[in-house]
Amino acid sequence: MMSSKIEKMTISNDSGMEVTCLNYGAILHSIRVPLSGAKVPNSIGANVKQKTEVLIKPKRLESYLTQDNYMGTIVGRFCNRIENSNFEIDGKPNLIDSNEGTNCLHGGSDGLNKKFWNVEKNGNGSSNEIIMSCESADGENGFPGNLKVQVVYGVTNDNKVTIDISATTDRQTPVNLTGHAYFNLNLSNDSTIKQHQLQVAADHFLPIKSDGIPLLETREVINTDFDFRRQQSLEKLLLSDDEQIISNNGIDHNFVLAQSHHSKSSEGGHQLPLGELVKAASLYSPSSNITMTLWTNKPGLQIYTGNHLGGEFKAHQGICLEPQFFPNTPNRPDYPNCLLKPGELYRHKMVYQFDDE
Ligand code: BGC
Repeated sequence: MMSSKIEKMTISNDSGMEVTCLNYGAILHSIRVPLSGAKVPNSIGANVKQKTEVLIKPKRLESYLTQDNYMGTIVGRFCNRIENSNFEIDGKPNLIDSNEGTNCLHGGSDGLNKKFWNVEKNGNGSSNEIIMSCESADGENGFPGNLKVQVVYGVTNDNKVTIDISATTDRQTPVNLTGHAYFNLNLSNDSTIKQHQLQVAADHFLPIKSDGIPLLETREVINTDFDFRRQQSLEKLLLSDDEQIISNNGIDHNFVLAQSHHSKSSEGGHQLPLGELVKAASLYSPSSNITMTLWTNKPGLQIYTGNHLGGEFKAHQGICLEPQFFPNTPNRPDYPNCLLKPGELYRHKMVYQFDDE
């Protein structure tokens, strides 16, 4: 059902992990992870596992309506940036909305993050799934094709949060959809993510121009501060003297996932089969001892260390790990193809697993 009032929906697993989503922006609002170790009494005196919140979120739900951080939202129709808000399909230009200088960020000013989504399943009953859908009309923000999008949020008994996004179109159109939650695995997530340790399965990353658009070059991580093949502290990264990091107040870059089949645009080859998810990254907080591991079937991983967070948040209070096609793909024939055609099904599965042992 479509509503224009923000509604909360919660699902949980057998060990008490709770996932709460909102019908606005299909937001992932809260993930409460049960901790092993001492149990604590609940409101009726029973001893239950202590839980910790691993997302940052505004104090008031209404703040989501006016935020510009894309916090928790599903971003698209094309997450990340398209240079000069323009791309060609079959030689014909498509001019799309510019909402960041001359470029288009996260699908333009009225992206999927600003929509009230239809709730198809609200998690009540035995399904353990929240399902939402929305439509983006032909020409919305300049993109061709009526795009139908569905997102399925799930939680499994081995503490995995699954986000499964699918889309169809009636005209060829570039599609790139991801989740934009800001993680902070500390016991108190008022603190920054500086003490977190990050590992990323990438031998290469995409250096960017000052407007966030990747340069033509793909750079090796070896001998740079972008080398997360072994776990590294984010504090070390944030103190880096690399111009790419200083000028962004952290990282806001795309990593080329090592095992992904990111060969050049084979027909229908814009995604890995869902059974072949790639382990993309892991994030660890010594404060909670929680490790979060991320899998995806997409070739790139945008890592954004919350460099511009302000207002009720502070810079670096959360980190986004956003699997996706590479930025500006519609203008980069050398990147894997993101064009969705009528009759095809776009699928993006993200799995975030939590473990504190
Ligand atoms: C982008 C950042 C942008 C942020 C908006 C991220 O996905 O990479 O450049 O500032 O979204 O919150």
